[in-house]
Amino acid sequence: MDFCFDWKENEEKIQELKEVIESNKVKKGSLMPVLHEAQKIFGYLPIEVQKVISEGLNVPLAEIYGVATFYSQFSLIPKGQYTIGVCLGTACYVRGSQEILDEIKKKLDIDVGGTTKDMKFTLQATRCLGACGLAPVMTINEDVYGKLKVEEVSDILNKY
Ligand code: FES
Repeated sequence: MDFCFDWKENEEKIQELKEVIESNKVKKGSLMPVLHEAQKIFGYLPIEVQKVISEGLNVPLAEIYGVATFYSQFSLIPKGQYTIGVCLGTACYVRGSQEILDEIKKKLDIDVGGTTKDMKFTLQATRCLGACGLAPVMTINEDVYGKLKVEEVSDILNKY
């Protein structure tokens, strides 16, 4: 789904961000700390927020976008309360993790990288989680589900 950034609703947060920018402006290497603070304030880094940072720090938008998309701690879309990670590493893949991922996509009506409308779930495909003995593996925040079967997905999601 698409998320629209509401300037009016975010007025106070924008103000807070501008103060963060102001106090970091003169420091060298201020982009990373400002992006961290912005991520904390908004929960994600939409293009509108990147533009405010770009103007405030006088750093090209392309550079900010590059940093925001390179580091996994930053997100360009709002994250749900629960992040589901389905392992697509080799061991999980050969044991059917793609079918599990497809089932979750269908059930939640989102794509990989997407967040449900109610902001409950964000879906991610991951590399090997180091638990190949449990393949196929899925995580939901800190919880790990191994030796998963497609028909179990629904019940597991319903627990959240
Ligand atoms: S391949 Fe999935 S945990 Fe290793």
